[in-house]
Amino acid sequence: MNASVNVQSLAATAAGVANLVPDRRLREALGRSFSRAAASVEAIEGCFELLPAKRWSDEMLSTFFHSWKATHLKMLGIYGLSCRIQRLALTETGEAREQLWMAAARNAETSHEDLGLDYDGVTHAALYDDLARSFLPNDAWLMEVNGVPAALDFKRWVYGKMVVGDVATGLLTNMFSEIYNHAEYTLALEAFTELVERHYRFTEAEKERALCYIRAHVGDETEMKHFLVVVDALERYNRARGLVIDYEAAEALFTEYLERLGSAMSQLRLRMTRER
Ligand SMILES: [Fe+2]
Ligand SMILES: [Fe+2]
Repeated sequence: MNASVNVQSLAATAAGVANLVPDRRLREALGRSFSRAAASVEAIEGCFELLPAKRWSDEMLSTFFHSWKATHLKMLGIYGLSCRIQRLALTETGEAREQLWMAAARNAETSHEDLGLDYDGVTHAALYDDLARSFLPNDAWLMEVNGVPAALDFKRWVYGKMVVGDVATGLLTNMFSEIYNHAEYTLALEAFTELVERHYRFTEAEKERALCYIRAHVGDETEMKHFLVVVDALERYNRARGLVIDYEAAEALFTEYLERLGSAMSQLRLRMTRER
């Protein structure tokens, strides 16, 4: 890492959260995925390391903000997944139905902050717009043409995993995204703070507005709590359906998640390197 962005690595931050999981095999699958995807993890860290290096052109920032957004804000997928579990609950009775209601409700909890439920309806999508608008003169970054291909692919892939594939895979995808996000936002907060301090003359209020989206995910350990509620949702879903976790498939999924994200961040990093 750059000497000025001296934070824990993605893997170390994620491991700290994974250690809260009582299920040893799940914990190990999470840890191993970060080792298996080490090159991708390094590419992601490299991208954030590079971010504070200069004041980037509007074109580069548009690419960054569109692409980065495509790797987050999966509220639609969360909603779709909860709907699928509720639909199953309607076909069941007794304990299985109860567990499915609970699994759906727990999964949905991961979208409460995104929807602004306890924040006067201020959504995370709005906070993300504030972030981008702090650095760019208009909303042209929202056009899909700004996204690097791997980031746009990643967005489609995550949505498919959550609403098309089997429900357990959907829950594992949501679960992993929360632990990953916790680690990545921790890194991103350092990188963006550094970018602002080195290259922008924001007032305190402007700085607060610029960093609010990222802080909202790290400050209150939001994503960490989300991760744990999805662990609970998966347990309840499996109990209702008489299933157990396929740890090998889970590890492969987590690894693929990191590799796909690594590709997106590598493409971003390449463009940044060209502009440097
Ligand atoms: Fe969020
Ligand atoms: Fe979350």
